[in-house]
Amino acid sequence: MISKPNIAGLDLPHLDGEDKLDRVLSSALKSRDISPPFPLSPSSYWDASYFNLPNVRIFQDATEEEQSQILGLCSQGLLEEAYFIEKAGVGYMAKMVLLAETIEERMLYALFSADEATHLAQITPFVSIEETVATDNPFLRLLADLVETQDKIVLLFVLQIVLEGWGLSHYRNLAQGCLNSDLKEVFTGFLQAEARHHATGVTLFDRASISAQSKDAIAQTLALFLQMIQMGPQSVVAAIERVKGHLSRSQKVRIFAELDTENHSGTRLNLLRSLMRSEGAKTIVQQLEERKAFQPFSPDNCV
Ligand SMILES: [Fe+2]
Ligand SMILES: [Fe+2]
Repeated sequence: MISKPNIAGLDLPHLDGEDKLDRVLSSALKSRDISPPFPLSPSSYWDASYFNLPNVRIFQDATEEEQSQILGLCSQGLLEEAYFIEKAGVGYMAKMVLLAETIEERMLYALFSADEATHLAQITPFVSIEETVATDNPFLRLLADLVETQDKIVLLFVLQIVLEGWGLSHYRNLAQGCLNSDLKEVFTGFLQAEARHHATGVTLFDRASISAQSKDAIAQTLALFLQMIQMGPQSVVAAIERVKGHLSRSQKVRIFAELDTENHSGTRLNLLRSLMRSEGAKTIVQQLEERKAFQPFSPDNCV
């Protein structure tokens, strides 16, 4: 059955068991010098300090077993997010192939789609297969809606300049902090391609003329995305709650304070603003500044 177009394809299933297509895919990946690594430790690929957890009282007081469960959840969260971003990337780049205005641009996007397909193949072994369909993560839902947009300028600016630029620094941090050498290598291997994806976005955006309507759509989407960053490390607090049981509002506020949420988010928001420095984006940044979209929330407002 052919289902309705779904460009991000977040819910696209994997093939069931042994399949001819799988064998062709493996040999195609091998011809690009990619053989997916075998994950060794199924628990955490990053330590407590990566998530700012050493200063969190409830984490310090937890048993070793609970601490490793919390770290495992935080770690899986990062891997799943990377998995879905790459999954959406394959479809996004394929869409840009069709929207290209020169053959060189079309060729570039076809190569970029192949980049994202190889990234997806490399990250997939680290994610448990039950977690590879359907997700209620608000960031991924926003991403999926965004990819469906018909306005190429919105796609270029939000997805390729801001999100790919953000991804580049995120993957660099993931690589630096990663405890597993195979996975570290996987993330390091993404960096060059992601830098090219971002730079191409900047080049094409700077050449385009941008309507007021596109600017508005960009500012609105970015305001939603920035708000998710303003809200601090929600997934870390959710991981603690899953292991330690229900947390009261005041407990959560305290955890956000101990996680140093304002610093954590402030750094990220500054990085995001620095990615929006294109001439054509001045009024967009102004609009976002007026909405205080680059200011992190206090611990009290994160809950
Ligand atoms: Fe990628
Ligand atoms: Fe990318």
